[in-house]
Amino acid sequence: MVEGQAAGTRRLYGRRQGHRLRPAQRARFERLLPKLRLVLADDGAPVACETLFSNPPDDIWLEIGFGGGEHLIWQAKAHPKIGFLGCEPFVNGLARLLTQVEAEKLQNVRVFPDDARALLAALPPASLGRVFLLFPDPWPKTRHHKRRFVSEENLQALARVMKDGAELRLASDDAGYVEWMLRHLLAAADFAWEAKVSADWHVRPADWPPTRYEAKAVREGREIAYLRFRRRPRRRPGRAEKG
Ligand SMILES: C[S@@+](CC[C@H](N)C(=O)[O-])C[C@H]1O[C@@H](n2cnc3c(N)ncnc32)[C@H](O)[C@@H]1O
Repeated sequence: MVEGQAAGTRRLYGRRQGHRLRPAQRARFERLLPKLRLVLADDGAPVACETLFSNPPDDIWLEIGFGGGEHLIWQAKAHPKIGFLGCEPFVNGLARLLTQVEAEKLQNVRVFPDDARALLAALPPASLGRVFLLFPDPWPKTRHHKRRFVSEENLQALARVMKDGAELRLASDDAGYVEWMLRHLLAAADFAWEAKVSADWHVRPADWPPTRYEAKAVREGREIAYLRFRRRPRRRPGRAEKG
């Protein structure tokens, strides 16, 4: 079983390691990871969000599958009072991120080097103010669609941990996956699409820096969709329903 992956769940990501880390990279990785790594409790206790960062943050934002970490680093620099959680099982991407966290002396980044689903299951309800899912693996073959991160089950897990009004940002350069994302999100009662006009999802907002993956897709002539959804406010029990 993959570490952090619940028994019986399907593995969603591809490779865990590309080229071997160079000795200096490996040494930095081994020094920094224990300091920045979020470890889940063995007894299933929820993550104690208030103890994750040395300075209590104004809010906590999560990036799922941060790849090389360019977007996460940009956001963490732009929002020093926000605490950032980044999930990425790909060791080389994680190593790149850790290098940047050290170089930029960022105090507001913690990493979960594993499957984001395990972290979602362990976070307390309504604990996140924003979630980024940028260019998740598109798994284009029909027989692999079940590996796509966007699914009814994962949207429910996201809705549980997102605060009322929290934003979910998604991007993809795969037209089939964009259609799939829209279909699943529009069917999910907990999320509302923010877009009013076509530019709202065809033009990258200023506070949404490009990733390396995106730059490659643009060079290769693919169109990108930038989707923003809001977690709808939870329904409060009405007077009649109160005990
Ligand atoms: C196509 S890459 C995009 C990386 C980055 N977001 C970017 O735009 O450059 C998708 C990334 O998601 C990661 N990933 C896939 N499934 C994941 C999961 N269940 N939890 C966390 N990360 C995952 C992969 O390891 C991969 O690095």
